Amino acid sequence: MARDINKEKFSEETMLKLNIFAECFREWYPVFLHNPYIKGIHIFDFFAGNGCDVEGNYGSPLILLNEAKGENRVYCDKAYDKNISFTFNEVDIEKLTQLNTNIDNYIESCKKNNACHEKCVYQNDIYYKGYKFKELIGHDSLLKVLQDSTSAKFILLDQYGFKEVNNDVFEKLVNAPKTDFIFFISSSFVKRFKDIDVVKNYIDTTSIEYNEKKPKECHRVIANYFESLISETKEYYLNHFTIQKGKNYYGLIFGSHHTLGMEKFLKVCWKQDVRAGESNCNINDDYEEGTLFYNENDTLKKKQVKEEIICRILSKEIKDNISGLKFTLKRRCLPKLFVEVVEELIENHKISIIGKFNRQAYNIHKIPQYGIEIIK
Ligand SMILES: C[S@@+](CC[C@H](N)C(=O)[O-])C[C@H]1O[C@@H](n2cnc3c(N)ncnc32)[C@H](O)[C@@H]1O
Repeated sequence: MARDINKEKFSEETMLKLNIFAECFREWYPVFLHNPYIKGIHIFDFFAGNGCDVEGNYGSPLILLNEAKGENRVYCDKAYDKNISFTFNEVDIEKLTQLNTNIDNYIESCKKNNACHEKCVYQNDIYYKGYKFKELIGHDSLLKVLQDSTSAKFILLDQYGFKEVNNDVFEKLVNAPKTDFIFFISSSFVKRFKDIDVVKNYIDTTSIEYNEKKPKECHRVIANYFESLISETKEYYLNHFTIQKGKNYYGLIFGSHHTLGMEKFLKVCWKQDVRAGESNCNINDDYEEGTLFYNENDTLKKKQVKEEIICRILSKEIKDNISGLKFTLKRRCLPKLFVEVVEELIENHKISIIGKFNRQAYNIHKIPQYGIEIIK
């Protein structure tokens, strides 16, 4: 978005991006902190910057540390029980040095503000790296951590442009167990320069079809390209969020192996965009809030996905609640939409339930399964 993001005041759109990072991490961190089967938690911010903008607004590293503390230091005591590390990578060594100072200052003022007399629980496990990302991601020691299935990993890749997260990197992220990631990409740029080699070397733009009449959708199309790189036999969840700034579209792409990871990403995205859970720019041209026909419950995205769920239930492709809830996640809607559809179909005598019906739509991996039968 900006040439050197830390040298000016963060723009509204950068603040939105940072807010999404914060909310995603806020949702993610306690899940693993309180999971007794998880030994380690490793947080990587591979394009860390110097820690703040010219006005002192927190950049991603300070946001992550602040969230790991939680409100009123709620997580600090619990954090002693686990091996938790933060790795901040920044290729610009001057910025890396500033980051180190900013983090030391943050920890000092955190201790003062919270009348904390102990050593900060995180302080000894903050690592500063000054590598080019592509070099770092190839390091054996990093790959070993990524492959460790006893530890949870949260990865932020706030790159400039698009060149850092290519197919190889994406594959590494998707194949790392217990790893959730978010990366930023300048989607308009990928679209605008799709025919030049510098773009084609990183992303196979020949397999991406843009709808020229719908420029707002370019990030969605690019997210779908990344999704197409994942084997169909793998249960994996990818989500995305478009950020419009002027005439340009940027975006975030989120990945998780777990339904709960996707539930959490979706919660954050739908909180930002109640119409489609997908953008800051009314991506489907729904009625604007405050206008006569605005109806938050009947937006284009919700209508489309509702119809798809009905079709799949009536054609017996969805035969139980768990596959229906997962389908709804895959279509990037909150799973409660599936419950609404099932209730409507029961009321209209189109389906009956085999087993015990429930309205649960959160923590899908723990929900009791019931079957769905079509009434002829
Ligand atoms: C968008 S900024 C990150 C901002 C940061 N997340 C924040 O919230 O303040 C991207 C950062 O990546 C750094 N960078 C650029 N190329 C890099 C590379 N190949 N490897 C690592 N860092 C890089 C830049 O110096 C810049 O500070």
